[in-house]
Amino acid sequence: MIVATGITRTFAGRGGRRSTPVHALRQVDLTIPDGGAVSFIGESGCGKTTLGRILCGLEGFDGGELTIDGQPVSRLRERQRAPLFRRIQMIHQDPYSALNPTRTIANILGDPLALRARQLGKPDDWIAGRRAELLGLVGLDPGYVLPRYPHMLSGGMRQRVVIARALTVDPEVLVADEAVSMIDVSLRLGILRLLRDLRSELGISLLFITHDVATARYVGQDGELYVIYRGAVVEHGSTDTVIQRPVHPYSQCLLSAIPVLRGIEEPGPDRLIPLAPLEERVEPPGCLFRPRCPFARDDCAGRQPPLGRLGGTEQEHACRYPQNREVVAVPAANA
Ligand SMILES: Nc1ncnc2c1ncn2[C@@H]1O[C@H](COP(=O)(O)OP(=O)(O)O)[C@@H](O)[C@H]1O
Ligand SMILES: [Mg+2]
Repeated sequence: MIVATGITRTFAGRGGRRSTPVHALRQVDLTIPDGGAVSFIGESGCGKTTLGRILCGLEGFDGGELTIDGQPVSRLRERQRAPLFRRIQMIHQDPYSALNPTRTIANILGDPLALRARQLGKPDDWIAGRRAELLGLVGLDPGYVLPRYPHMLSGGMRQRVVIARALTVDPEVLVADEAVSMIDVSLRLGILRLLRDLRSELGISLLFITHDVATARYVGQDGELYVIYRGAVVEHGSTDTVIQRPVHPYSQCLLSAIPVLRGIEEPGPDRLIPLAPLEERVEPPGCLFRPRCPFARDDCAGRQPPLGRLGGTEQEHACRYPQNREVVAVPAANA
């Protein structure tokens, strides 16, 4: 289980000494239960990748604590952290740059498996069998892909190789960061289904990072959803609750603009809640969403409301005036 409490990450602004710092993450609390599915949604730049990288040990944090299976990461030495973070593997957005173009798929999978064989005390002939087994798991034909180089495969096949490579170390958590956004639309569904199946078949927990609510629901319908706005969680609850009855205006705006997965869902009536453009670096006093909120009231300029269940809602949210508003209801995915 991964527990993050009060995770904060601030970057120095890119515009030199006088530029304002970027609050990539603000006091984020989250839990990834064993075998669970957790999704983050939010617009580009809201901090999703930074959070995913922190959870994988690829990026540090300046405040809060990350606890992996009961062990607080900040108190561990580098040598003790490595085996903990091995359990959490990231699937990047870009399957094109993730694979070494000069190596065959046989080598791309064989190298980490050789390392794994040594760790597990397995004989050398275990490697080829395991490699074929992993390719089978991700739906690839070993005879076809093993002698080939990454550029000879489709984007969807490459992403499957990336997933197989992540599986070589027997991870307990897969972090999929916009894992289908660079893949041809016709191949996306297959990858999403694969991620969903790996969770149910191998018991791997899935952290699914996306800006697209429909895919979050497809992959993690029985899981938890976190809606992130400018580095802060503004709504969190079961995926079903948040999608069906969002109470934070930002979630409502996101959900009213929900893209549909063709073949799984039919488009609902077109009833968008308008979302004002993001005024990049301006930090409003009070609620961070206020400048864009179609429902803001004068006193929203006071303190940023903490995450809670104000109004007796099932989910946690950070809005002073939570309300069920009419958003486009999208029929449940049943593929
Ligand atoms: N290494 C970095 N240095 C400076 N700013 C960064 C760095 N990484 C991310 N940021 C900033 O942090 C914010 C969150 O970025 P990111 O986590 O990539 O968002 P998302 O994945 O949701 O698009 C953005 O404003 C981004 O410009
Ligand atoms: Mg990102």
